[in-house]
Amino acid sequence: MMQDKSPIIDVKGLETRFGKQLVHQHLDLTVYPGEIIAIIGESGCGKTTLLRALLMLMKPTAGSVELFGYDVWRCSSKEKELVRHRWGVMFQSGALFSSLTVLQNIMLPIEEGAQLYPGFGREIALVKLLMVGLPLSAASKYPSELSGGMLKRVALARALALDPELIFLDEPSAGLDPRSAAELDKLLLSLREQLGITLMVITHDLDTLWTIPDRVVFMGDQRVLAALPMEQLVLEPHPSIQAYFSNGRAKRYTRTAKGDING
Ligand SMILES: Nc1ncnc2c1ncn2[C@@H]1O[C@H](COP(=O)(O)OP(=O)(O)OP(=O)(O)O)[C@@H](O)[C@H]1O
Ligand SMILES: [Mg+2]
Repeated sequence: MMQDKSPIIDVKGLETRFGKQLVHQHLDLTVYPGEIIAIIGESGCGKTTLLRALLMLMKPTAGSVELFGYDVWRCSSKEKELVRHRWGVMFQSGALFSSLTVLQNIMLPIEEGAQLYPGFGREIALVKLLMVGLPLSAASKYPSELSGGMLKRVALARALALDPELIFLDEPSAGLDPRSAAELDKLLLSLREQLGITLMVITHDLDTLWTIPDRVVFMGDQRVLAALPMEQLVLEPHPSIQAYFSNGRAKRYTRTAKGDING
């Protein structure tokens, strides 16, 4: 069991606010190395804000966030820097630089961490390009010359640039056709298999939810209401969870998955 290891992410009693608006309260979340975790919940429930708190971009008003065993809001700035080099991020918007080529985009984090790999940025970036299944010919292209699916792969290659142990992805399959989304899911599974990377994926994609995560974290009422394998989550009686899965599209899935007991 993964639970034998110490957590890679350990959030306790998190509280975040925008002015008077309380986004999180009493939020607890534990993730173990090698897990694939999906984060779901209604739009506006605070998924991206949670990600920002984990990434040290937003200071919580209470609680603690531990990553790799470091309490990130209380450790030294040197330790913070070490932590930052151990994760990779793919933001909701993708956020590639349109004036840079694909290769230059992937090289950015490597150059920022230049003291780590002096002179090898190009080679490392090319390896990451191949790792996410892009052809070498894509290296010299600009983002505007690529399809949506390819852009996601470039963003993923950039997230992989510094060989992270943990990758955060905010809605990686948003805007992709079903086939490209399925291919991205496969790619994420193979990254975990080959590199043992821990993945935290924010998603609304039901296919993804049934395919890749070990556990699905359901956010509601400003906190984590459940963190369970999908098969168990859909059976949770909590009204918010039932409401989330009771719309037509989600329902078709739960029916198939549970052998029609939901109909
Ligand atoms: N920079 C900000 N300033 C003020 N309020 C914000 C800011 N960012 C987010 N919020 C508010 O915090 C709440 C949580 O937003 P968040 O972006 O975390 O939701 P989300 O779960 O990621 O939603 P979605 O599924 O639509 O991406 C929302 O009510 C939002 O309006
Ligand atoms: Mg969001």
